[in-house]
Formats: sequence, C-alpha cells, structure tokens
Amino acid sequence: MLYTHYLLGGLSLLPTTFALALPHDRDHQPELQTLSNFYTLTVYKPHDRKLNALKVEENYGGFGIYQASTASYCPEQVGACPNGTELAFDGGTLYPYSIVPGGQDSYVESDGLIQITVQHSHSFPPGSYPEYEGWTWTAFPVFDNHNWWHNHGNRCPKDNPIYNCDPPSGFFDFKAPNATVGGVMACPSTYNSSATVIYAVTPDFKRTDCVKLDGLATHNYTGEPVWAYY
Ligand SMILES: *[C@@H]1O[C@H](CO)[C@@H](O)[C@H](O)[C@H]1NC(C)=O
Ligand SMILES: *[C@@H]1O[C@H](CO)[C@@H](O)[C@H](O)[C@H]1NC(C)=O
Ligand SMILES: *[C@@H]1O[C@H](CO)[C@@H](O)[C@H](O)[C@H]1NC(C)=O
Ligand SMILES: *[C@@H]1O[C@H](CO)[C@@H](O)[C@H](O)[C@H]1NC(C)=O
Repeated sequence: MLYTHYLLGGLSLLPTTFALALPHDRDHQPELQTLSNFYTLTVYKPHDRKLNALKVEENYGGFGIYQASTASYCPEQVGACPNGTELAFDGGTLYPYSIVPGGQDSYVESDGLIQITVQHSHSFPPGSYPEYEGWTWTAFPVFDNHNWWHNHGNRCPKDNPIYNCDPPSGFFDFKAPNATVGGVMACPSTYNSSATVIYAVTPDFKRTDCVKLDGLATHNYTGEPVWAYY
C-alpha cells in the first residue's frame, strides 16, 4: 500500500471525529478526508496501472468498468431529464443518485453481483445484501496534491475518459455480515461476455475467472443526477 490506511468501521459519517479521538499517537494523526454527500466510484488497485482509477459505471447488467459513462433511462413523457452521465451516489450512502419518484437502491446479490433496483423499488431478492450491509468506507488522509500526482497521477491516463484520475477521498470494501472473507472483484459479465462488472465477495461467490481489487475508491461528485439508472 502506498498510503497509510485507517480502518474506521461502519459506513460514512462516524469516521473523522472517531479517528481524531483515538488516544494513541493523537498528535501524529494525519487529517482524514470525509465522504462527500455525492460521490462516484473508481477501481482501487494502486499497483495495477490498467485497472486502477477505471470509472465504475452502471451498464445493463451491473456496475461496469472500461466504460466512459453510465447507462441511464429518461422516459419520453418526462421530457427534461437531468444530464448526469456518471454512476453517482447520494447522501454518503450507496443510494444511487437518481431522481425518479420513489428512488432506487443498490444491493449485492447472494452470488456477489452488485445491482441497482428498478425504478420506485427498494425490494431486494432473497439472500441479497441491501446497500447498508457489508460495506465499509476507509478514509484517505488529505493528500498533498503535488505528492499525490507525483506518486499516482503521472501514471494514470488522464485523457482517457474511462478513467477518473482525480485523487480519491477513500475507498469501500465489502464483507458480508459474519463472513470470514470478503473483498471486491472484476469479472466478465454473465449478461454480456465483452463487458466487465464488479462483484462483491459473498459467502456464495463461486467465480474463478475474476481479478481481485483492493476496493472501490470514492470521488466527490458535483455533477447532475440521472432520472433513473438501469
Ligand atoms: C470533498 O468533499 C468533502 C466533504 O464534503 C470536502 O470536505 C472536501 O473538501 C472535498 N474535496 C474536494 C477535493 O473538493
Ligand atoms: C440538459 O442538457 C440540455 C442540452 O444541453 C439542456 O437543454 C437541458 O436544460 C439540460 N437539463 C438540465 C436539467 O439541466
Ligand atoms: C451474525 O452472528 C451473530 C452472532 O452469532 C448472530 O446473532 C447474527 O444473526 C448473525 N448475522 C447474520 C446476518 O447472519
Ligand atoms: C456489451 O459490452 C460491450 C463492452 O462494454 C459494449 O460495447 C456493448 O454495447 C454491450 N452490449 C450490450 C448488448 O449491452
């Protein structure tokens, strides 16, 4: 690892104050970033130049990589949909940032495939993990931008729209409740053999044709939402 990590446990909002209140080494704690209300995801795998910083975007069968923008849906009768082009999340949670009435949710299927619910729906298939189960966010220290670019930025293909080379604020990792192993993987899509999608490693995850990632990195998002994700 190129950075020091502070595993803070629990989703989102706890981290900063909790970390700064840790008694030991208090004066040497670097200042940590916080998870912004709206954020996007990239692949986190710092020693892999091809995979690291690839944007994570919705496709037609999960959270896809190697794609420049997200799949989304604007019904004809709505007319003026917002112009979001990225898979973004809302409220410091894994709620998709879509404005369809009733909203959408995300979940991990029992076999590990990460999915977004259909419009208006917050129901999860049997055996799946709702967005509030299993995910842990770890904050990165506030980067000295110059150092970050020196260590990482010059190796990230900034002009390729399938990457987001901005410094991340932290990363998510997954471990199902009570599971002994977890993690996230990039796997060929079972819906489209030329697409690659993200899986969370659940107890029922059985795939052997995947690449292990270090997590899903988070980036502040200031763009528009979409009407709905597929
Ligand atoms: C990202 O968002 C966090 C939380 O809102 C904020 O403190 C931080 O300054 C933002 N970082 C950048 C680079 O805009
Ligand atoms: C989206 O972009 C179109 C074309 O640029 C523009 O007419 C429309 O007002 C935009 N919608 C919003 C919600 O900003
Ligand atoms: C995890 O283990 C605890 C203690 O054995 C149990 O009470 C809880 O129901 C388990 N949770 C799940 C999701 O299996
Ligand atoms: C399958 O994935 C490829 C690569 O991402 C993409 O170009 C193609 O449009 C996808 N096909 C379908 C039917 O979604």
